[in-house]
Amino acid sequence: MLQYYEQRRPEYEAIYSKPERQNDLDWLEQQICSFVPGRRVLEIASGTGYWTRRISKTASFVLATDASEQLAAIAVESCPTHNVQSQVMDAFSIPKDLNFDCLIAGFFFSHVLLNQQRQFLNGIAQSMKPGSKLILFDNRFVEGSSTPISRVTEAGDTYQQQRLSDGSCFEVLKNFPRSENLTSLFHQFCRNVSVKESQYFWLASGNLVA
Ligand SMILES: C[S@@+](CC[C@H](N)C(=O)[O-])C[C@H]1O[C@@H](n2cnc3c(N)ncnc32)[C@H](O)[C@@H]1O
Repeated sequence: MLQYYEQRRPEYEAIYSKPERQNDLDWLEQQICSFVPGRRVLEIASGTGYWTRRISKTASFVLATDASEQLAAIAVESCPTHNVQSQVMDAFSIPKDLNFDCLIAGFFFSHVLLNQQRQFLNGIAQSMKPGSKLILFDNRFVEGSSTPISRVTEAGDTYQQQRLSDGSCFEVLKNFPRSENLTSLFHQFCRNVSVKESQYFWLASGNLVA
């Protein structure tokens, strides 16, 4: 997956220009940015920094992290403010006792295998201070707009074939969780759970409990 995202880097943010998604993107940005003012944010899988740039406008500090060294560095370079730093970090191996009160991961949860979702949230809960805000958001599957599902495994994980402009093709894990599954998963780790959906996106949030 890292090779895919590093190779896709120059064209990645084109997904944020799709005309039919603009209203939903405005909605998503408003929702996300309403959580962060004054917070110290740990951003997981920050990619090219599209959300880092938005969050950092009002957060007190953002640590933009990605498993790719190349992408982690780019997220910071793309930010005009001075309250952002970067670090290489594996989302499944977040260090413990970090001094953050908000964790954000955009468009990453879809790349977590169904049987690893609980472990992923448990890792986050173990690393963050109790009470910290957890915010995950990602795509909903929209027929005619989303890349078709090319394969479904016995476990129910779904994959897409993604072609880049250089002609290379990657099979990428892309799960589309149902709202009730997100709600039930979040309730295992958070209070104040909220799961919202627009046509193209979902956004789940809550406050982590000890
Ligand atoms: C769909 S992109 C999301 C980028 C950004 N958050 C956004 O919403 O525009 C997924 C990102 O996950 C990163 N990634 C893949 N595996 C990872 C892992 N195990 N830990 C942390 N980041 C990972 C990739 O390098 C890529 O930047």
